[in-house]
Amino acid sequence: MTKAVIPGTFDPVTSGHMDVIERATAIFDELVVGVAVSEMKNERGPLFDLNERIEFLRVATAHVPQVSVAPFSKLLVDFVREQGATAIVKGLRAMTDFEHEFQMAALNWRLDRRVETMFIMSAPDYMYLSSSAVKEIAVHGGDLTGLVPPVVQAALRKRFIA
Ligand code: PNS
Repeated sequence: MTKAVIPGTFDPVTSGHMDVIERATAIFDELVVGVAVSEMKNERGPLFDLNERIEFLRVATAHVPQVSVAPFSKLLVDFVREQGATAIVKGLRAMTDFEHEFQMAALNWRLDRRVETMFIMSAPDYMYLSSSAVKEIAVHGGDLTGLVPPVVQAALRKRFIA
């Protein structure tokens, strides 16, 4: 039985995240999407509160039975062990991600060598997609079709247009 954690802030989940989650199901029997509470992300905090971010992920992954969603507010490696998982899976987009991801992977390995970090290369369509870019497009009323799951598109429309 192989189990991995896909961690992130998911503020909000994008089609790029969904691509990584769906592709990881071909490698792992079970996946836990770990949603970081993330009060420290920036001074304003996340756009969507923890319950909203979890709900979007639950709706968006409802068709994938081996995926569950859970919040965490501790060290990632501790959350991984607590879940009975042995790996962290992350998406890797452009080279700009590499430095930061390499640092986090090295730190996590230093903290717990039983936990491996693995990367799934972003699909070219999502190479430059990020939650921040999605929020910026939403603020200005741009079309988000295909960039986020429908549940997120509806929530962003409600937040910024309605
Ligand atoms: O979506 P993000 O913001 O890139 O996700 C970052 C996240 C949540 C994976 C990272 O901040 C994290 O692992 N936080 C938990 C605290 C921790 O374990 N830090 C030490 C490793 S750098």
